Amino acid sequence: ERGGYEHFMLKEIHEIPKVIEDTLFEYLSEDIEMDASFSAGISEIVFIACGTSYHASLVGKYLIEKLTGIPVRVEFASEFIYHQPPMHRALTIAITQSGETADTLEAMRIAKKLGAKTLAIVNVLGSTATRVADHVLYTRAGPEISVAATKSFIAQLIVLYLIALKLSRLPGSEVNRLIDELRAMPELVRKVLEREGEIEQIAVLISGYENMMYIGRGIGVPIAMEGALKMKEISYIHAEAYPAGELKHGSFALLGEKTPVIASLVPDETYEIMLNNIKEVKARESVVVAVADEDDQEVEKYVDFVIRVPKTEHIFSAITHSVVLQLLAYHTARKRGCEIDKPRNLAKSVTVE
Ligand code: M6R
Repeated sequence: ERGGYEHFMLKEIHEIPKVIEDTLFEYLSEDIEMDASFSAGISEIVFIACGTSYHASLVGKYLIEKLTGIPVRVEFASEFIYHQPPMHRALTIAITQSGETADTLEAMRIAKKLGAKTLAIVNVLGSTATRVADHVLYTRAGPEISVAATKSFIAQLIVLYLIALKLSRLPGSEVNRLIDELRAMPELVRKVLEREGEIEQIAVLISGYENMMYIGRGIGVPIAMEGALKMKEISYIHAEAYPAGELKHGSFALLGEKTPVIASLVPDETYEIMLNNIKEVKARESVVVAVADEDDQEVEKYVDFVIRVPKTEHIFSAITHSVVLQLLAYHTARKRGCEIDKPRNLAKSVTVE
């Protein structure tokens, strides 16, 4: 049932190109049909989610604010429940792979009571979240067995790209161009998967450390957060994620030869300042592994290793970079002999608050 793969996690990472195709097909064949109340006059969006789905929400915030100008908040479901922030009739988007996460379900119920419309982005058909929400958009990731979310995260991103493009103020021709780029993503992810051997070699090096730091800027911040979560969850290496510009406000103290840094270098307006941040990190003697575009000639001058990803529109780097970081976590955990599909202390869905 693992289709020849040693673990479900690896099988599920290798299914990502197909998952992207299936999720795009679902919505591009018929257009993303949301009733008028969904898209008409949204003045604010609030995401509620946990774990990896929370990181997808952060990517969603970046995309929606950038492409539509609608303000977006992202709340941990577990905090939302007790804090109950003002909603101003905001559209609430809950993201949950399982559709059974207790905190997310409770937060959705509260959001409804506070007068918000709820949309759920869910992977499991017929799960509780699909019955609580006013509106459901399914991700087409198929069953995900490994506790670590991989393909479901990428499917969530695909739905978020489509929502952001649907609500965007960009001219139609630009939206169509971006959709064409999205259609090319399965092929680009296949190219990332071809680099697995290279990523595995870097994982061998990483596997000897007990602390790591992931950094990024802009859309690179949630990429870093998700990369660090994956690493902690399955390899038990302590991994922190930081917006690169925040390092100097305290976390610099952790850097040094015992703390390698994984830097997500996205080819957008943050690129130059990220390079500066990388130089600052190198000056503290940390080993730096950058994830960067294949045609980037600059970065290799400053870092120890570069993992290359195919060139794409910068907003889609969240996909290519995340697949790299999933493989890096997988191979690091494998090298450390960890129980990859069922990490200690964790369950696939967290059905208690
Ligand atoms: O099923 P959900 O998306 O609601 O689950 C949320 C988190 O429990 C989940 O993403 C968790 O963080 C994963 N194990 C991370 O890989």
